Amino acid sequence: MIKAGILGGGQLGRMLLQAAANYPVETFVMENDPHCPAAHLCHHFVKGDIRNFDDVYNFGKDLNAITIEIESVNEDALAKLQEEGVNVYPRPEALRIIKDKVKQKKYYEYFSIPTAPFIITQSAKDVAANQEFLPAVHKLGMGGYDGRGVQIIKSPDDIPKCFDEPGVLEKQINIHKEIAMIVAVNEAAQTTLYPPVDMVFDPLLNLLDYQVSPAELSENILWKAEAIALKVVKELKSPGIFAVELFIDKQGEVYVNETAPRVHNSGHHTIEANYSSQFDMLWRVILNYPLGNTAAILPAAIVNLLGEVGYTGDAVYDGLEEVLRMDNVFVHIYGKAQTKPGRKMGHVTIIGKDRQDLIFKKNRIKNTLKVISGKIDS
Ligand SMILES: Nc1ncnc2c1ncn2[C@@H]1O[C@H](COP(=O)(O)OP(=O)(O)O)[C@@H](O)[C@H]1O
Ligand SMILES: [Mg+2]
Repeated sequence: MIKAGILGGGQLGRMLLQAAANYPVETFVMENDPHCPAAHLCHHFVKGDIRNFDDVYNFGKDLNAITIEIESVNEDALAKLQEEGVNVYPRPEALRIIKDKVKQKKYYEYFSIPTAPFIITQSAKDVAANQEFLPAVHKLGMGGYDGRGVQIIKSPDDIPKCFDEPGVLEKQINIHKEIAMIVAVNEAAQTTLYPPVDMVFDPLLNLLDYQVSPAELSENILWKAEAIALKVVKELKSPGIFAVELFIDKQGEVYVNETAPRVHNSGHHTIEANYSSQFDMLWRVILNYPLGNTAAILPAAIVNLLGEVGYTGDAVYDGLEEVLRMDNVFVHIYGKAQTKPGRKMGHVTIIGKDRQDLIFKKNRIKNTLKVISGKIDS
């Protein structure tokens, strides 16, 4: 049986393992925390640091295949494992480009892939020296995650917010909407695309509010988005699953924002809403089976369950029963014992033909299901 390892034991690893249970594969997970969401769903849990060369190398050396659920892994160890015959998804060369936003932007530029104009910056001084470029968005090259590592610099007054480390200063795009496209690539470089997802941000909180698939797009914009997503993935020359985040501006121009070389938050609905989920698909790629069918069974919305502000401690899922009584609603709790404000604790998928009904249910779920703890933070 094929032995496959996952670096990282969070919710993405957990959902990958749920899909792996359908296939002849022996699963391994490495992560520091033995109580992480994926720990008890794999055949073999290994405690270790995914950023450490020796830990990653020793974890991978007897495996047939290895994949990641987060970019911040030791890619030198992955490169050595690949040299020694382990199949790595995504390829370490592709991971190296993506994990540094500076390299990622240069990659888009090199292949003439539409992306927001940018300046590479070494320090906060470089931002201050380019005030004519504002309004812009300053992004940390390495190590940013989930919005940490991105600062909007509208005017010189915002310059103190920028990073004093290598990064990119991008022109602020006048965004009409944000979408994500998930693409699967197999060993033979065949590709298949999932229907795009609308990522809807809360304008007040500037946080992802919910996602709906398929995105509402004109044919003209859809083909541009598909062409860009395919080009992004093609030149990375790597099998795996890729999530390409795109901006559509007020003029209908499409730009790539960023790419993730792994299963992605914007694809969670594919578990219930598409014939082959992103997790199922990655196993098909890793195990060298035919690619699955990406078509939607029904439209879907995803609501993320974030730890409620004001609560830290043992997680309590207030309102869960009421949500479980709703039709065509699927609750995914990630099994994190401790909640804290904003922590990703789970998600809920709603499927249905009618978009209005999806939005109505998503609002009801947001108002009903809260991740809290026994008592309010003092
Ligand atoms: N060039 C840009 N113009 C306008 N908004 C942007 C730009 N770049 C990023 N943003 C906003 O910031 C959000 C986070 O940026 P992103 O690069 O996707 O970082 P993260 O790694 O946190 O997802 C985007 O989803 C978008 O709303
Ligand atoms: Mg992003």
